Amino acid sequence: MTAIPDQLAGIVGKDHVLTADADQQAYVVDWMKKYRGRALAVVRPGSTEEVASVLRFCSQQGVAVIPQGGNTGMAGGATPDMSGGQVILSLTRMNRIREIDPVGNTITADAGCVLATIQQAACEVGRFFPLSLGAEGSCTIGGNLATNAGGIAVLRYGNARELTLGLEVVLADGRIWDGLQALRKDNTGYDLRDLFIGSEGTLGVITGAVLKLYAAPSARATAMVALPNREAALELFTRLRSRAGDRLTAFEFMTRACVDLVLAHVAGAVSPFAAVPPAIVLMELSDTDAKADIASLLEEVLTESMEAGIATDAVVAQSSEQTKALWRIREGISEAQVRAGKTIKHDIALPIGRLAAFMDECEQAIEAVYPGLQFLVFGHLGDGNLHYNLQRAAHMDDGAFYALTGPLNAIVHDLVHRYRGSISAEHGIGQLRRDELPRYKSDVALQMMRDLKRLFDPAGILNPGKLLQT
Ligand code: FAD
Ligand code: MLT
Ligand code: ZN
Repeated sequence: MTAIPDQLAGIVGKDHVLTADADQQAYVVDWMKKYRGRALAVVRPGSTEEVASVLRFCSQQGVAVIPQGGNTGMAGGATPDMSGGQVILSLTRMNRIREIDPVGNTITADAGCVLATIQQAACEVGRFFPLSLGAEGSCTIGGNLATNAGGIAVLRYGNARELTLGLEVVLADGRIWDGLQALRKDNTGYDLRDLFIGSEGTLGVITGAVLKLYAAPSARATAMVALPNREAALELFTRLRSRAGDRLTAFEFMTRACVDLVLAHVAGAVSPFAAVPPAIVLMELSDTDAKADIASLLEEVLTESMEAGIATDAVVAQSSEQTKALWRIREGISEAQVRAGKTIKHDIALPIGRLAAFMDECEQAIEAVYPGLQFLVFGHLGDGNLHYNLQRAAHMDDGAFYALTGPLNAIVHDLVHRYRGSISAEHGIGQLRRDELPRYKSDVALQMMRDLKRLFDPAGILNPGKLLQT
């Protein structure tokens, strides 16, 4: 019997099975450099049939398989454990746009297609694929679907799930499910597609997807707005939404500490304000009608908001360079956090109207027990999604700070639960939140999830130890 990597090489070709430490580096450490594992091999199939053969072989051998796309996930879901016995299944060679249908407004793509490639392909036929996030130059559509990614345009277009019509999935035993329908309506029983979306590689490997396209926006208006406090962000959101309706495509919130961090750590980032205000919003209106005067609408709402004391200053982008510079500040926050040192991250969803109350209460609860921590709070306010992140106090070393992970998670997430929110809005559970899930999900919900896992993956080879405890 030849070694497992050799047999895998027999399926995908020896150039596509990586066993040397140096070759595996980019695959065994996550983007945040928080998780590190070891792999028996990194296997890079080039087709759905090869994925099927790899899974058939691994399930026969009882070898665990960790699906991986761009490895940009924020919950440690794509990192193997330290046993050295798991195989990473990297989908990045499967990067073909299979079909674009401008009449049906759909695009069909391999799961390993980088998100930006899909956006570009849509653009080339005069259409728009709206999923957009900071990692779009390297994350893959398979990873986006496996985590049900959100991003900056959920407000108008929904998350990855809402942008998907069909899927092709390889099951743990190697069977291929061809669910690549491009239908807007299909009521033929249980929705299998939606089971795989957000399942984080634990139920099957997504190999292809049919995605929805939209008319391309021709008019855009972007503004960064200075606010006196976080309550004002909600008032501004409500005001703008009631005037702009669906034309409000992004409404991103960040606190002064986030912007200060970006200015300190991200080359080329420049604040448009002389003094960084306590709370900031980056907003975008867009319209498919090039003649729509959304810039005037934006200016009007901003003027009224300043008169009402909701906003203290605002910068409306006058060029695409200025638009990019404003987004650079927002999208630089994750990068700045990694450079600044250890962060305890929370990716929470709350009822929108209660966001400010939550922030007040949570900050007080944390300050009362652990004074001096830095609060880096930002996120997709229009979706009720905050990245509620904490960094160490000046007097603490990294070790002492990380030792607070459990108690801090409990403070934040217990409060989220009390507000009827969610402990993962868009990043998923992975290994980061796995052990907290039972505290917040009902027994009935957890039992159904475990039953599904057993049904789809009886041998437990698909991404074990992620999402659910094994
Ligand atoms: P990976 O990291 O490779 O994998 C993520 C999970 O999906 C793992 O559990 C993996 O096993 C599974 N998986 C991957 N591919 C497949 C497949 N083909 N079949 C089955 N399972 C698979 N997320 C948001 O939602 N909104 C944001 O705004 C956002 N911004 C980000 C900004 C930055 C700078 C970064 C680094 C990340 C950001 N993310 C954001 C995190 C986000 O989850 C990922 O960027 C993306 O969705 C993951 O795609 P990926 O291809 O990198 O997946
Ligand atoms: C974002 O919105 O920028 C992301 O989800 C990334 C993060 O939370 O760091
Ligand atoms: Zn986010």
